Amino acid sequence: MSDQTLPNSYSGPRSSRLEDETRARRSNNTLDVRAVRSLGVNAVFPIALGGASWSFSDDHDVEERAIKTIHTAIASGVTLIDTARAYSRVAHPGHSEALIARALAHHPARDRILVATKGGHYRDGDQFPIDAKPDTIRRHCETSLELLGVDRIDLYQLHWPDPNLSMRKAIATFGELQSEGLIAAIGVCNVSIAQLEEARSVVPIVSVQNSFSPFRQDDRLMLDYCAERSIAYLSYSPLGGPETRHLAARFPGSAAVAASKGISLARLALAWLLRCSPVLIPISGAGRPETIYDSARAPDVALSEEEVAALDFDLPSRGPRTPGRSFSSRGDSIAVAREIGGKA
Ligand SMILES: NC(=O)c1ccc[n+]([C@@H]2O[C@H](COP(=O)([O-])OP(=O)(O)OC[C@H]3O[C@@H](n4cnc5c(N)ncnc54)[C@H](OP(=O)(O)O)[C@@H]3O)[C@@H](O)[C@H]2O)c1
Repeated sequence: MSDQTLPNSYSGPRSSRLEDETRARRSNNTLDVRAVRSLGVNAVFPIALGGASWSFSDDHDVEERAIKTIHTAIASGVTLIDTARAYSRVAHPGHSEALIARALAHHPARDRILVATKGGHYRDGDQFPIDAKPDTIRRHCETSLELLGVDRIDLYQLHWPDPNLSMRKAIATFGELQSEGLIAAIGVCNVSIAQLEEARSVVPIVSVQNSFSPFRQDDRLMLDYCAERSIAYLSYSPLGGPETRHLAARFPGSAAVAASKGISLARLALAWLLRCSPVLIPISGAGRPETIYDSARAPDVALSEEEVAALDFDLPSRGPRTPGRSFSSRGDSIAVAREIGGKA
């Protein structure tokens, strides 16, 4: 049991098996953030690795570094790797998936690693269209199976709600793929609670992948919703993506705590995120072995009550506000801009 105390911001969950476990920990005023977290029927390490950044550069060194980053992540305990059909090079659709397959081929821990990928959003030159029509989703899924070199995808996620298609219709194809045994579990990304509920009325949804970070905390209602239903919340851009470099300037109190503990502010921020909800799993966008090694130590960060009190990560004025999350007409380029660091 860790000696880490819950922050004042912690408010869920209210029901479910996870709640019971969490309540037991909270009875000691502690939340064991080192414990594995649930992703459907699987238990995963609390920090995941994301593969978006590796495929938006044509640099050969990036590729080799990504392979080393994946291996370091696994050696550090990471068991979930997130990728997508859209994480592609112009000349290589599905680049990130192929890279992950290469990194995992013959790896002794291969059977312990879950790979989550996404469909319904892809790269077409410099454009990143969203298309969740049944034929497209099925084609994306079949290509991902081939690129990943697997018979079944561990977690298949709808990357973005399609503004031209109801969620019900988009997610129905995922249900068919699951019935056919091509995907084990279904997740949704970039959704509001209403969209999630629509998806859940069609198929079981085990995960939501939205953005939550020290910079962006407007999804607290969704966090609670997921915690109440034991749905994993995969938090993307957990350090703010391109804003990561502004962490120290924006959160000086937390930077001081990190310095006094001799750990990186990034590791402290991830440790804080783990305390925001028992279903939150940060997807670290590390591009280097050094950074994933550092980030994977986040579950081990012990915080005294004084240190928790000195953290200034909380932005109370920004939450809760989940219902506003919706697709914008510029959604396709905005989505990619976020993923590649604001360049689109
Ligand atoms: N579903 C969606 O629409 C969506 C959107 C965006 C992202 N995602 C997923 O989320 C993943 C992460 O997103 P992101 O890349 O924006 O996340 P991020 O982890 O917030 O940002 C990545 C940045 O953080 C730095 N970093 C990571 N760990 C660090 C550490 N311990 N110390 C210092 N710096 C550290 C990285 O540096 P280095 O490069 O030097 O390691 C990189 O510059 C993506 O790969 C993707 O899987 C999904």
